[in-house]
Amino acid sequence: MIAEMAKVWRARTWMKKNVPFLYSWHAYVGYELELFESFRKPASIQEVALAKNIEMDLLQQWVEVGITLKHLKRASKDRVRIKNGWKLPSSKKETFSSGVLLKEMMELHIPALLSYPSLLRNQTKQQFNSELHGSTVAKTSILLERFAFPKLQKVMKKFKVNSVLDLGCGEGGYIRRLADRYPKKRMVGIEIHEGVAREAQEKLNSYDNIEILNRDLHEYEPDQAFDLIMANNLFHYIDPSERLQFFEKASDWLEKKGLFFVLTPMQKSKHGKQFSSAFNSFFMTFQNLYPIPSQKEMETLAKKTGFKVISIDPIVKEGGWYALCFKKK
Ligand SMILES: C[S@@+](CC[C@H](N)C(=O)[O-])C[C@H]1O[C@@H](n2cnc3c(N)ncnc32)[C@H](O)[C@@H]1O
Repeated sequence: MIAEMAKVWRARTWMKKNVPFLYSWHAYVGYELELFESFRKPASIQEVALAKNIEMDLLQQWVEVGITLKHLKRASKDRVRIKNGWKLPSSKKETFSSGVLLKEMMELHIPALLSYPSLLRNQTKQQFNSELHGSTVAKTSILLERFAFPKLQKVMKKFKVNSVLDLGCGEGGYIRRLADRYPKKRMVGIEIHEGVAREAQEKLNSYDNIEILNRDLHEYEPDQAFDLIMANNLFHYIDPSERLQFFEKASDWLEKKGLFFVLTPMQKSKHGKQFSSAFNSFFMTFQNLYPIPSQKEMETLAKKTGFKVISIDPIVKEGGWYALCFKKK
């Protein structure tokens, strides 16, 4: 009898632990189909289903869940509207919507984590489709920019930096923020994904001092050395066995006393261990993505390639995200 009670109690505990997932799932569906926009003003389920040409029963159910989670509320007998709108992801049309994070989590991370049993059984890993997910991943990183940029600016102010190379620049957010403050300094961004590079070029074509190249950084050779090289959210794209060469490359491409600025989640970090281990579990399901580095690994690589560690600062503590700055000796 006691053993049975314990089982029920355990099941109840797991069910309760799963409740936060419901909030993320609900917000993801609302973001993906722009349903929060549809219910920004009171609207009936029928009119939204008709206007968006979507399945009404499922919409009804999504609304019911939304009411229990307090994402939505009844405005009248037939009409529903959003509740606590400030908590919900903003529209897809906005550049900085937290919805991109939900999208990456639900479409990439959760399926990858759920594939563990079959990957383990089949002794295999999957292939990361950067064509399909490259844009989402680049957009998610943009959310970090606001937190990380002050660290970068501190480095810019402290050292005399006249030229910047951004490796794996995504949509070019960091160099745009820099170029807004330093319109005379030379900035180059390298991005392998054609669509993402195009997006960056379009966003930045009014800046005379920025050049975006749609290239693989492994095939790139700069014609001039730089004062600062950035590699933001890039280390999980670099095979650990090639990271030493990557540091050497950065050193070769830097002026004397040049700076290497790296933004990355770190394994076994002092802060955010749960998040960074989950992140790592996701990366490790892919044969073409790699584990995030540890602080020790980064310090060893820096030492071997003649860099001095200037600073290692947490950016988002609960996420285990760090900004590292190294100086070429
Ligand atoms: C996670 S995003 C980060 C974007 C940006 N650095 C940021 O932090 O917001 C990493 C970017 O690196 C690009 N990338 C990966 N491998 C690359 C390579 N070998 N050469 C150039 N870009 C690469 C990816 O296409 C992706 O857009």
